[in-house]
Amino acid sequence: MAEKFVLATHNPGKLKEMSAILSRFGVEAVMPADLDIRAEAEETGETFAENALIKARAVCAAAGLPAIADDSGLCVDALNGGPGVHSARYGGGELDDRGRYLLLLNSLRGAPSRSAHFTCAVACVFPGGDVLTAEGRCDGAIAYAPMGTDGFGYDPVFFVPDKAKTFAQMTEEEKASISHRGKALKEFADKLETYLKK
Ligand code: IMP
Repeated sequence: MAEKFVLATHNPGKLKEMSAILSRFGVEAVMPADLDIRAEAEETGETFAENALIKARAVCAAAGLPAIADDSGLCVDALNGGPGVHSARYGGGELDDRGRYLLLLNSLRGAPSRSAHFTCAVACVFPGGDVLTAEGRCDGAIAYAPMGTDGFGYDPVFFVPDKAKTFAQMTEEEKASISHRGKALKEFADKLETYLKK
């Protein structure tokens, strides 16, 4: 039977991405709900890495299985790195994705710089206490208006100069090849491979 790792997320898209990586090592990814686990850890960390670790530790403790979590967000230079770890709740709980990126565009009116980057941190905690971490970053700029219809979150306003496109104008594969999450998952996969060989 395949070894199981719990993915600390309720997002089926993340499960799909992670399952593809883990299956290479004969590992099966399951979600907390599959094990009837509720481990809603409060994301009180000041960094993406801290929050990923908090979530992975909580799920590992509840499940007694290795647990993987990620945390990501958008850091805008003109907003002193904000919304950062608060990206999902930027502008308060009532806004949807579109409301959040429109608020961002408004906040940057007349700003001297539109530079920004996405960061994604991944943490994997094993029941014995071992921890693997990885981080990826993608640099870009906040567009002057939304462009593209694919993706989620801030994708329509995150412009990648090298590609001359926003994330929302890229295919899933194209985005994954340069994105913060794609890079973090690649680094994580390499570290996991080394760890599992030990
Ligand atoms: P979390 O890592 O699932 O907590 O995501 C944090 C928030 O950051 C999301 O709700 C999005 O608003 C934003 N975010 C993270 N990654 C991306 C991305 O690849 N595209 C657009 N928005 C993202």
